[in-house]
Amino acid sequence: MRKKTIRDVDIAGKRVLLRVDYNVQVEDGFVFDDLRLRESLPTIELLRAAGCRIAIASHRGRPRGEVVPELRNGPVAQHLRGLLDAPVLAVDGCVGSDVENAVAALGPGEILMLENLRFHPEEAANDPAFAGALARLGDLYVNDAFGSAHRAHASLVAVAEHLPAVAGLLLEREVDMLEAVTRGPERPLGLVLGGSKITDKVLILENLIEMADVVCIGGAMANTFLKAGGTDVADSLVEDERLDAAARCMAHAARHEVRIVLPRDVVAAFGSPYRGSVRTLPVARVPAGWRILDVGPATARAFRASLTGMRTVIWNGPLGLFEHDRFAEGSLAMARTLAELDATTVVGGGETAAAIHRAGVSGDVTHLSTGGGASLMLLQGRPLPAVEALLDAEA
Ligand code: 3PG
Repeated sequence: MRKKTIRDVDIAGKRVLLRVDYNVQVEDGFVFDDLRLRESLPTIELLRAAGCRIAIASHRGRPRGEVVPELRNGPVAQHLRGLLDAPVLAVDGCVGSDVENAVAALGPGEILMLENLRFHPEEAANDPAFAGALARLGDLYVNDAFGSAHRAHASLVAVAEHLPAVAGLLLEREVDMLEAVTRGPERPLGLVLGGSKITDKVLILENLIEMADVVCIGGAMANTFLKAGGTDVADSLVEDERLDAAARCMAHAARHEVRIVLPRDVVAAFGSPYRGSVRTLPVARVPAGWRILDVGPATARAFRASLTGMRTVIWNGPLGLFEHDRFAEGSLAMARTLAELDATTVVGGGETAAAIHRAGVSGDVTHLSTGGGASLMLLQGRPLPAVEALLDAEA
């Protein structure tokens, strides 16, 4: 890595402001998939062994500068406690004198979890004063939040103006691995895209298309492509303002002889995803009032056939409403497909990684990334603002 890491600086006994990405789904107070927490443990253990006093900062969700009780960091602190088998104190805020006092009271190796950074609008605005207030909590800033590295937010970028800023072990590993894949991916290359952050991904796909030979699209993102191609997707989630971008992607793909594979059958629901009626249907026959919530079995087979023979496959974003069992099968089938391919396989994004875990094939993919948007940005060869902000290795 071209940046300094915690192995390159003296950390002994320091107060460390550790930025992680614990943006994980919490259901009924319990963490749904803890990959991001588990992957951050080597950095935390190294800091604890060096007697550091650690203030952990993370965002959860998109509360847009408001306090949203369901997005508090408490359940995450609780889960981390279990993983470390050590106390993790929690505090009701992330800046200010109470928080500074709580950090001052920490002993060597002790941990304090700060409240959700995005309860403050200054975080997403990369506000220098807010970054300065965060910086008062440490002598050293360590960034291990690979999943957020594509965001130029105060706790990721502006904070590095105030403290010596280095990478944690997870950030280092992710960047090294993904840069190696990007530099010279073995072709042919297959791209599998899904998930619901359509805006981010349609724009990214426009840049990535030329790197791919086949692009399989599922999840909510596929609805926008289907509609752009003239299919009636009834009440499914569609980003109408991205229809033009989706149409441009398809035209661009056709010019470069890149094959885009869209769902041919789908699992659709009427009413609540928990209790409503569910049917598997050809994609052109989704009735009015119904919503597409997963790809169907014929689509899973078509995706598998299209990816067979690829030498590199990159998957980002679940193919259905994965957190509900009724709409998880498309993603689980893709996880099994990836595990069977004779290819370098790179999986990115929290929910996508969760699908790999649930299918029991974590050991059968080449790299399981904790970052969705961040890994896509790196794969496009674009610099990550939060990585750029760190001290250069030779400095
Ligand atoms: C993610 O889950 O992709 C990261 O935590 C970033 O979240 P964001 O897309 O809300 O910035």
